[in-house]
Amino acid sequence: MNVLVPGGAGFIGSAFARLLVRERPKWNVIIFDKLTYAGNRANLQPVEGKHAFILGDIADAPAVRMALHEHAVTAIVNFAAESHVDRSILSGAEFIDTDVLGTYVLLTEARAARVGRYVQVSTDEVYGSISEGTATEESPVRPNNPYSASKAGGDLQVRAAFQTYRFPAMVTRGSNTYGPYQYPEKIIPLFVTNLLEGKKVPLYGDGRNRRDWLYVEDHARGILTVLERGTPGEIYNLGSAEEYENVMLTRLILAELGKGEECIEHVPDRPGHDRRYALDSSKAYGLDWRPTVSLPQGLTQTVAWYKANRAWWEPLKSGEYLEYYRRQYHERRSPEMAKHHSASEGRVSKGLSNSRAPHKGREERGRTEP
Ligand SMILES: NC(=O)c1ccc[n+]([C@@H]2O[C@H](COP(=O)([O-])OP(=O)(O)OC[C@H]3O[C@@H](n4cnc5c(N)ncnc54)[C@H](O)[C@@H]3O)[C@@H](O)[C@H]2O)c1
Repeated sequence: MNVLVPGGAGFIGSAFARLLVRERPKWNVIIFDKLTYAGNRANLQPVEGKHAFILGDIADAPAVRMALHEHAVTAIVNFAAESHVDRSILSGAEFIDTDVLGTYVLLTEARAARVGRYVQVSTDEVYGSISEGTATEESPVRPNNPYSASKAGGDLQVRAAFQTYRFPAMVTRGSNTYGPYQYPEKIIPLFVTNLLEGKKVPLYGDGRNRRDWLYVEDHARGILTVLERGTPGEIYNLGSAEEYENVMLTRLILAELGKGEECIEHVPDRPGHDRRYALDSSKAYGLDWRPTVSLPQGLTQTVAWYKANRAWWEPLKSGEYLEYYRRQYHERRSPEMAKHHSASEGRVSKGLSNSRAPHKGREERGRTEP
């Protein structure tokens, strides 16, 4: 199998690539990644020499076409996305470009190239907040923030590709994922690295939002299961059924690092913050997939990894990251925040039509490296 992995230099995509190299050694793994702030070649260092790498944008049809033909791609697992809710609230345009338009381009090119299997990696966030019980694959899609709305848009493009053209595509909807190599803006790596730096951890609102936490290797294995055994046209929830309030999660992280509650800094809640996500994953269980790592076990492994790999994350917490952090957490406290947001949103909207231009210094996009 020749598998194209868009977004494979990110957090979950790189875990998937490492899993394939380990457990499907005969497959050819081709990473196709734009290397946004969240993409990092260092995530692929453990599989150096065992994958091909293409610098490219999934919304760039000729680049996708070239990759599919050059590598005779037989399957695609699409992780490429703008993936951070908080950033989507600050400015959402890039999310539409990649998560919706990019998905459409990928599907269209994959169909033309007669790719045999396609998995779209999506999220439980598309169901919106679940006050009681659990979301099944039949539950309504009710996204509440620009990120989840853009992911839902991508999911619907996948549905249309199957319904209209019988293109053999499937969707996975995974729950909140954590583990090694996660960019330090999402709650677990942010809190762990802040504490390792002797800083406080910013906890939103009353901290009572509940999430279902899935260890990254369990998530990657669930996606592989769907790739190999899923039925085209179907959606599969991938959750751990292990729910924790954010404040409980924070206490587990503090305990893991021997820190106390004085390290918590309460910050105003995220607008549109979903109260609870909860998945019914019995359909994926029917494919013989089960999560194997509990949150306490996974947190111990994750904290140990961040302690041992400061050289990976310390350089990431600089430059653009610090500017983002300032806007996200410090300016939230000021009454000027709303004004600032609407001004910056205006700037992004103007950039929407040309945001697919190559990044500065990325002129080599589309080129394959061994
Ligand atoms: N992290 C989670 O908790 C979680 C949970 C469920 C589902 N998901 C989904 O899983 C997928 C991967 O999430 P992640 O946390 O690894 O994300 P990530 O932000 O760590 O990585 C995203 C990757 O996509 C690449 N990318 C972005 N735009 C691109 C484009 N236009 N063309 C090519 N590459 C592009 C980035 O460079 C990066 O390598 C996403 O689709 C996300 O919606 C994530």
